[in-house]
Amino acid sequence: MDYDRVIHGRIVDPVTSVQEAYVGINGGIIRKVSGKELRSPDITTILQDHYIFPAFIDPHVHLREPGWEHKEDFLTGSEAALNGGVHTVLDMPNLPEPVTTPERLLRKVALARKAKVDVRHFAGVGNIDLIRENARLAVGYKIYTAKSTGGMMLDRENAEKACRIIAATGKPVTFHCEDEALFTQSEFHGDARPPESEVSAIVKAADLIRKTHVNGNIAHVSTKEGLAAVRESNLMHEITPHHLYFNRESAAGPLFKVNPPLRSRADSAALVDSVRRGECMLATDHAPHTMAEKLSSDPPSGMPGLDTYGNFVLWLLRAKYVSPAAAAKITSYNAARFFSIAGGRIAEGFPAKFTILGTEGETVIRNGDMKTKCGWTPFDGVTFPGKIIRL
Ligand code: NCD
Ligand code: ZN
Repeated sequence: MDYDRVIHGRIVDPVTSVQEAYVGINGGIIRKVSGKELRSPDITTILQDHYIFPAFIDPHVHLREPGWEHKEDFLTGSEAALNGGVHTVLDMPNLPEPVTTPERLLRKVALARKAKVDVRHFAGVGNIDLIRENARLAVGYKIYTAKSTGGMMLDRENAEKACRIIAATGKPVTFHCEDEALFTQSEFHGDARPPESEVSAIVKAADLIRKTHVNGNIAHVSTKEGLAAVRESNLMHEITPHHLYFNRESAAGPLFKVNPPLRSRADSAALVDSVRRGECMLATDHAPHTMAEKLSSDPPSGMPGLDTYGNFVLWLLRAKYVSPAAAAKITSYNAARFFSIAGGRIAEGFPAKFTILGTEGETVIRNGDMKTKCGWTPFDGVTFPGKIIRL
C-alpha cells in the first residue's frame, strides 16, 4: 500500500519511547508506524540528530481576545505558539467580559477561526446555572480560588456546588490554587502570596475533587510542598517553564511578577522531579502584558511563554536529563488524555501532527524574534541548546 506521505526519522512516542521509524500518513492520520521502509510518492527523511515528537499541546494560555487585544489576539498568540512548536492551545476565560456564558464562548470560537493552531476554550464559572449549558462548547472549566487578572474568584460554597455540576458534565476542571486568607501585606510580591497560600489552596481543591468526583487539574504548581500535596492525592497538575527555570533569587523586577510568584531555587529543583517522571503537563500560563504595563507603577502579574516552549523542552532534555519519553508525556500525551483531545502519540489512528526538535547547535532567545504581540520574553538573552525545526 502507498501512503500520501511518509515521515522517516527518530520518533518519540510516550508509550514506546524512542525509535527510528517510518510513519505512514493518509488523510492527515497516522496509519502505520514501522521499522521497515514504507512506500509513498512523498517521503521526508528527518536528520538523526532531530527528535520527532507528537505536536505539543499547551493546556494553559491567555490569548486575550476579546477585550485585551492590545496585549495579544488569536492570530499573534497562535503565531507565538507555532514559533514554540505548540499546535494546540487551551485558552483561559479571564477577560474583561468573563467567558461564563454560551454566547461568550461562541463569540470566542468565532474569533479564534483566524488562529493558526487549534484553540480550545475554557469556560469560567460565574452563574452556576449556566455551567451545564457551557459543557458543549468548553474543553473544560476554570476555577479561581484567588483574585488574579480578571477577578473571577469563587468562594468555597459556590466552588463545591460548581464542582458537583461540572462532575455531571464529564468535563475536567483546572484550579488556580492560591488561598487569599494566607496572603500578607508585604511589598514584595513573592512574600505577599507565600508558599503556604498555594499549599492550603491545593489541599482544599484536593478535598473538593475527592468529595465531588470531578476530574481536577491543579494549575501551575510552584512549590515543593504544593507538589507533595498534589502527589498525595494523585492529581493531574501543570508546571510552568518559568517556575522551573527562574527563582526569586535569580530573577527580580516587574517583568517576573507572576501568580503564583517565582519561588526558591529548592522549589524549582523539586518541580523537576515531576517533569522527569512525566507526571505533569508542561503549561506556559502564557500571560502577555505589554512592556509599558509591566514597567508601570502598578505592574500586572503574568509573562509570555509560548514562543519559547520548544526551546525550553530542549533545555529540559539537555540540562535536566529529562528522557524524551517523559518530555512527550508532559508536552502532549498527558494533556490529550486529561482533556480528551486529539494527539499525544505517534501511533496508528493519531493525528499526523508533529513538533521536531534538533539537538545540534544552540539558540539565543531575543525579544525581537518573538511573535507574541507583547514583544518580549522573560528568556531574553538566554542561550538554549538545540533548535526548533520548521519544515
Ligand atoms: C494571569 C493573567 O495575566 O491572565 N496572570 C498570571 O500571573 N498568571 C492570570 C492568572 O491566570 O492568574
Ligand atoms: Zn493563567
